[in-house]
Amino acid sequence: MAPAYSRLEGKVAVITGGASGIGEAAARLFASHGATVVIADIQDDLGRSVAASISPSGNCTFIHCDVRDEAQVAAVVAHAVEAHGRIDVMFSNAGVVGTMASVLELDLAELDNVMAVHLRGAAASIKHAGRAMAAGGSIICTASVASVQAGFSPAAYVAAKHAILGLVKAAAAELGPKGVRVNCVSPFGLATPLMCSAMGMSPQKVDDVTSAASVLKGKVLKTEDVAAAALFLASDESAFVSGHNLIVDGATTVVGASLSAVLQLSSHAN
Ligand SMILES: NC(=O)c1ccc[n+]([C@@H]2O[C@H](COP(=O)([O-])OP(=O)(O)OC[C@H]3O[C@@H](n4cnc5c(N)ncnc54)[C@H](O)[C@@H]3O)[C@@H](O)[C@H]2O)c1
Repeated sequence: MAPAYSRLEGKVAVITGGASGIGEAAARLFASHGATVVIADIQDDLGRSVAASISPSGNCTFIHCDVRDEAQVAAVVAHAVEAHGRIDVMFSNAGVVGTMASVLELDLAELDNVMAVHLRGAAASIKHAGRAMAAGGSIICTASVASVQAGFSPAAYVAAKHAILGLVKAAAAELGPKGVRVNCVSPFGLATPLMCSAMGMSPQKVDDVTSAASVLKGKVLKTEDVAAAALFLASDESAFVSGHNLIVDGATTVVGASLSAVLQLSSHAN
């Protein structure tokens, strides 16, 4: 059902990692709010089918992009501008977890890959979208509660998410004068293919585990909730919000006592 009012009417949005999970939910929500959406992902078949399923009621296309490759990110931005005349929103969201191993077993090649997907990917997205946003715009990077708290995700992932937050702060400071806002959205754990595969659990089991660890009860975090936070940051409703880390965790990271419960997440994975 179409929303009562369109919060992204006339805007062009690129969503990396838009073929699945949070990115897919954002693609659907942004398009339902009037945005022209370009999904950029490495999962070609899935990305095309998600775009096609949105297109009857909204405007959505797919383009292949491995965010580790700056040239491919630049090409996605160029494609959005060429095809649609502008880019207003860049949602840099592609991600991987890597193996749930101790830092003592850290595979440095895997560290490089996790950093490449998250940090290089976000840096390339900010650089090329920021250059193309001549009339201002909104860049959102998916970080994580792992951008502010450790102990429940692999070290490489925690390091990458902390790095994204630093990058976002630096970019917000530099791009403010251009009228470009740069923010993070930082979810708590939720059932997506990334999380289910990292934890070796079904979506229902992930929901059970994250709900048990979460401070806020009576509500299970879903991809649509994260997409709604990203929509706020993408829209003009957040017109003076920049350099912010919008944590979507039901207060879990602010309550120290919950840390031991959260820590049980990693023991469930073993
Ligand atoms: N699910 C969670 O619990 C959770 C919590 C906090 C943050 N996040 C973050 O949310 C973001 C989205 O993840 P998700 O949970 O929706 O998982 P997901 O697996 O459903 O989606 C991730 C998408 O990123 C794409 N991707 C991976 N590597 C890529 C690359 N090199 N280039 C382009 N695309 C690539 C995948 O193909 C996939 O479509 C990630 O940045 C993740 O770290 C997830």
